[in-house]
Amino acid sequence: MTAAVFAGCATKPTTLKEAYKGDFLIGVAVNQKQFENADRRGNPIIQEQFDSISPENALKWDSVHPDPGVYDFTNADRYVAFGESNHMAIIGHTLVWHHQTPQWVFQDTNGNPVTRDVLLAGMRDHIQTVVGRYKGRIKGWDVVNEALAEDGKLRRSNWQKIIGDDFIEKAFQYAHEADPKAELYYNDYSLENEPKRKGAIALIKKLKAEGVPITAVGLQGHFKMDWPTLEEEDATISDFAKLGVMVMITELDVDVVRATQGNRTADIEANARRVAGANVYSNGLPADVQQALAKRYADLFGVFLKHRGVVERVTFWGVTDGDSWLNTWGRKNYPLLFDRDGQPKPAFQAVMQTARSRP
Ligand code: GLA
Repeated sequence: MTAAVFAGCATKPTTLKEAYKGDFLIGVAVNQKQFENADRRGNPIIQEQFDSISPENALKWDSVHPDPGVYDFTNADRYVAFGESNHMAIIGHTLVWHHQTPQWVFQDTNGNPVTRDVLLAGMRDHIQTVVGRYKGRIKGWDVVNEALAEDGKLRRSNWQKIIGDDFIEKAFQYAHEADPKAELYYNDYSLENEPKRKGAIALIKKLKAEGVPITAVGLQGHFKMDWPTLEEEDATISDFAKLGVMVMITELDVDVVRATQGNRTADIEANARRVAGANVYSNGLPADVQQALAKRYADLFGVFLKHRGVVERVTFWGVTDGDSWLNTWGRKNYPLLFDRDGQPKPAFQAVMQTARSRP
């Protein structure tokens, strides 16, 4: 370690946020128990290690706006207050998505699809109410989540089918009106894959050409041990940087369960079908896999560090392995830096070591 590496930091950093200070924010997705300060294992880790938070579910449409005209901000308010009391960069996730959005949004009382104008008015009301409530307090919003299909074309979601392709522009416009200073993001998975990346590049170029106030692209980062390659990750970050947007890794985890290897999607239903029943590490993670995971994390952070200045934030999707969504479908998974007892894993040490040994 040289003095220049940790300028202003007299002792060797012991936490993720210190180790990457000046490079990018280190974020974590928090659940309800955590933002209510009721997770005795997770809360000390959150407070110690991270300087940004994302809400796992608390700001999704079905959480804050479950019925027509009914907003419930009980949990969202607690989430934001938790971030403020811990002096963290607070992220809003997410405004327009095809999941966790109630059917009534897209249907009239007879169950028929609403018109473009009705859906646009509904979207505007939602975005202005939610973004407006936290104006000046939430640093940035995942305005649109997962609008692209694997082939790079726009996904045929209810948003796209009813409003048309410009639902994305409209969502950004409404969010910008509600909080002109908030950062606005397009967030998606598998943008490392060529066809989808090409589609995203075309989309971002179009948005920029139209003057849409987009700040950054979020690469979700639901990774596998063998996907994406480091070259793909490197090229993906470079490709977006060239368009004049920042990049964020917004939902980082590394799925170690072998049955899912080779899968190239974070699509929830596709995964559920594929991995049902696969539970290869139910008795613990073998030491060699533990080491391979540590190396995988070190390599990935090497790529992120190479792009410091473009990569503004790296957010993990969960605190401990026990918290992860990747344990669903009957599998025991080990995708994060802290184990089920809240202890740092070799992968944690590897990520710290990457910061210490940077060129
Ligand atoms: C997507 C969403 C997240 C989360 C994960 C899986 O990536 O953006 O909010 O729901 O799926 O849990």
